[in-house]
Amino acid sequence: MTSEGAPGTQEPQEGTPPAGHGAAMSIDTSVAHVARVYDYWLGGKDNFAADRRAGEQAISAYPDIVYSVRANRAFLRRTVRYLTEDAGVRQFLDIGTGIPTANNTHEVAQSVASGANVVYVDNDPVVLTYARALLVSDARGYTNYVDADLRDTGRILAEAALTLDFSRPVAIMLMAILQHIDDAEDPYAIVNTLVGAVPPGSYLAISHPAADIETEAMAQMAERLNKLMAEKVTFRTRLQVARFFEGLELVEPGMVRVQEWRPDTEMEAKSPAALWGGIARKS
Ligand SMILES: C[S@@+](CC[C@H](N)C(=O)[O-])C[C@H]1O[C@@H](n2cnc3c(N)ncnc32)[C@H](O)[C@@H]1O
Repeated sequence: MTSEGAPGTQEPQEGTPPAGHGAAMSIDTSVAHVARVYDYWLGGKDNFAADRRAGEQAISAYPDIVYSVRANRAFLRRTVRYLTEDAGVRQFLDIGTGIPTANNTHEVAQSVASGANVVYVDNDPVVLTYARALLVSDARGYTNYVDADLRDTGRILAEAALTLDFSRPVAIMLMAILQHIDDAEDPYAIVNTLVGAVPPGSYLAISHPAADIETEAMAQMAERLNKLMAEKVTFRTRLQVARFFEGLELVEPGMVRVQEWRPDTEMEAKSPAALWGGIARKS
């Protein structure tokens, strides 16, 4: 399991998904995969040599990636807390789950509001294995998992509707995933389809690696990851990320660096991180 402690405090080892939850399904360890590279940056153990090689190549281009991913997880936690506590949302569609770590969406939401229901979506077999074992329903709310690609919005919406009531507000969470949809695949249309399926009073939360923060280092990191990782990356500028929120009302403070979105502490606000983030409401 991934910890969110200080970077580099854990010796990475070969990942061993929990037994008895589909662990025998085909996991390609020869090529780096983003869920496992991200796990490596977070100090987790669910990664293989190819993931660590790609992770290290990225670190040498942009050393602050290890702080960036932690700031992203902290943004996710604050986002879910805001949506549950202040906005009163009780349904979450979290696409791009990642390997479960601390403060997963259902844990934060259900710790604030019993009865919060969460559907996770990912297409990585390691994530799927852990999700089946760890992202489980209990008395505090339903948690479900859909094995689907973000591009397959029809399938995501149909399967999510088995758990979520689409006549009531839903928070769509797209945390550090849209960079894996390149411009030719029209990520804006994908987001519009998802937002079009939820009623007024719903929310869209996004974090996205930046092309215009630490520009040279981020470009270098993207180039290296695109040589080594199965899922290619397209980092985007503030304006390009802001376009995802078009037609929606951004919640204060708007779209900012993730560490500056309602930080809990001054230290959190000062963490280095090259991601844009925001939350917006559909009216
Ligand atoms: C960088 S991780 C982010 C994890 C988590 N959302 C967070 O912010 O901590 C990206 C996740 O998105 C998943 N992913 C990437 N491309 C995807 C796609 N096209 N469809 C579904 N999941 C995808 C990966 O498997 C990985 O688990």
